[in-house]
Amino acid sequence: MTHAPKLELHLHLEGAAPPAFIRKLGAEKGIALDGVFDDKGAYVYNDFEGFLKVYEAATEVLKSPEDFARLTTAVLEQSRAEGVIYTECFISPDFCGGRDLSAWRDYLAAIAEAASAVDGIDMRAIVTCIRHFGPDAARETARCAAETAGVFVTGFGMGGNEGMHRAADFAPAFAQAGEAGLGLTSHAGEFGGPTSVRETLDHLNVTRIGHGVRATEDADLMSRLAEESVHLEICPGSNVALGVYPNVGAHPIDTIRTAGVPFCVSTDDPPFFHTTLTQEYDALASAHGWDAETFRDINLTASRAAFCDADTRADII
Ligand code: HPA
Ligand code: ZN
Repeated sequence: MTHAPKLELHLHLEGAAPPAFIRKLGAEKGIALDGVFDDKGAYVYNDFEGFLKVYEAATEVLKSPEDFARLTTAVLEQSRAEGVIYTECFISPDFCGGRDLSAWRDYLAAIAEAASAVDGIDMRAIVTCIRHFGPDAARETARCAAETAGVFVTGFGMGGNEGMHRAADFAPAFAQAGEAGLGLTSHAGEFGGPTSVRETLDHLNVTRIGHGVRATEDADLMSRLAEESVHLEICPGSNVALGVYPNVGAHPIDTIRTAGVPFCVSTDDPPFFHTTLTQEYDALASAHGWDAETFRDINLTASRAAFCDADTRADII
């Protein structure tokens, strides 16, 4: 099926790095990437925690602002080839040059400049803290986000291991980012169950949730998501690759759709999960019988949830 222009709201910049790109940087810098790739050159991991470890190991080669500029160009060209016209990328200051946040503005400037040089696709950045690095690090990341909030940095988010800490521990970080006018989203309900989603809503003031699919196990929570119009950033291929569901047919995305909970379709970390946005659309079309009209509606819903100004929103609809 051909698909109309796509919006993507859940894509990790580092997680979208093609394996060849990471290998090349590793070779240039003499960094051994033991255990990161299989013998065919693909990222290799066994489970979610293994995935997070390999992800972090791959980011070790990203040392300078120039490396991030090159990464941004590669990722945006890759997304544009999938028909994406607007993308929101999670960017983690913690992965910029060895967790030294003092150079954050230099990294951000390099990323923003590279993004503006790629025609045909508009990018916004969601500055993202890493849950398993803890609430103090999240506070520091929120400070980076708040200090650089503007036309390019429009959101604050949280990824990482959902099993670590309580959502409430991150309330100060999200409050600071929210006060700076940033849109708020957090990963929840990917490996954590409905309680994780509920606590995220109760304490972090988010309008969007990364994944959120496990909310489908709780009918009251689904009603709340629909009533409060909480937007779920759904990444079916990611959920299947990480073993949350056995296949796209068993994924609850159609239940979410019929429950009236707003959602978008995204790829999360496409090369890690052996997917592209076009493959996601095609798999959903065949598993759930979705047609072009369904995808048009999904992208319209995404435009409403996007962390961008009204002019940009009008352009991407
Ligand atoms: N979940 C949590 N953290 C992440 C993910 C994810 O799917 N991808 C990159 N960081
Ligand atoms: Zn994610």
